[in-house]
Amino acid sequence: MLIDGRPMRTIWEAGDCSVNILDQAVLPHRIRVVTLACLDDVVTAIAEMRVRGAPLIGVTAAWGLALAMGADPSDSGLATARSRLAASRPTAANLTWALDRVARVLASLAPRERRAAARKEAAAMAEEDVAACRRIGEHGAHLIAQIAARKGCVNILTHCNAGWLATVDWGTALAPIYVARERGVDLHVWVDETRPRNQGAALTAFELGHAGVPHTIIVDNAGGHLMQHGRVDLVLVGADRITSTGDTANKIGTYLKALAAADSGIPFHVAAPSSTIDWTMSDGVTEIPIEEREEAEVTHSEGILADGRLARIRVSALGSPAANYAFDVTPARLITGLITERGTCAATPTAIKSLFPERSGQTPSNA
Ligand code: MRU
Repeated sequence: MLIDGRPMRTIWEAGDCSVNILDQAVLPHRIRVVTLACLDDVVTAIAEMRVRGAPLIGVTAAWGLALAMGADPSDSGLATARSRLAASRPTAANLTWALDRVARVLASLAPRERRAAARKEAAAMAEEDVAACRRIGEHGAHLIAQIAARKGCVNILTHCNAGWLATVDWGTALAPIYVARERGVDLHVWVDETRPRNQGAALTAFELGHAGVPHTIIVDNAGGHLMQHGRVDLVLVGADRITSTGDTANKIGTYLKALAAADSGIPFHVAAPSSTIDWTMSDGVTEIPIEEREEAEVTHSEGILADGRLARIRVSALGSPAANYAFDVTPARLITGLITERGTCAATPTAIKSLFPERSGQTPSNA
């Protein structure tokens, strides 16, 4: 996608032994490219959310294994790198999916062959992510066009950032919006600010602004009010993990939007690539690990001062403890449909498996 008219991705190979990322911790105030040259750099970039969003976390972790193989391609080097990367953010299914995929390729290779093979696999995964997200965009744009045919301008509410910054390019929930705009569909996006890290206000608004998509930032609690007053036609969100039954973990607050949408009879769709589906799980509320992050993300807020310096300021009463649950689970019954690279389907085990028939034989571990 574009920043100031220039095409940009979130991650790209920088040379033989490094990758570049767009540092999302300083967006939208600074456009900063950071080079990751070793396993430690990658673990820190994921944990500090310099790269973030489930699909991008997966691809970055794959590059992390490739960089780690440059330093120590032994079996123990591989096992250590894999477990350190896996622990960096627990909720995104794409993280373990990516690590498993690269590790499978490396397992049968001699150590001296591992770096080149991991590099090739990570590069392939990045390209596949771009293609999958573009296809999600095409399937989802069809849905938006159908609403536009009935209503004219389509008002879409989204939560967090599930745009190109959360993937390698295009995005998940925002990809249908970008494709619909390409096709001339009239639309407007309500952007939840998404406390505590403000991915909506900082990142989604930044993306939509650079793409020329009409949008308005709202506080997280405004969505229900807008829905009650007929000002939302569609809720479109991304996902960090989807169970085989359709339960969906996404940024904290998503569940409340789904409840409000159900109460107002508004379609609520989840867009994600199949790498976000965890086929081993069937009950999202009890099984999906929910990341808990540092209190300071809740007690403080980050932004830019009038003199241009970036700053973190305290907003809460001194001494009060805070809890920081980063994700919640929306049960499948509240989800109108899923949008994947294979097409759209209901959030039911049968419908999901009909899109992915190769998974038919797989039974969730607790079934
Ligand atoms: O904590 P983050 O910013 O990595 O959160 C992940 C997300 O961006 C959202 O939950 C998103 O909707 C799913 S990832 C496309």
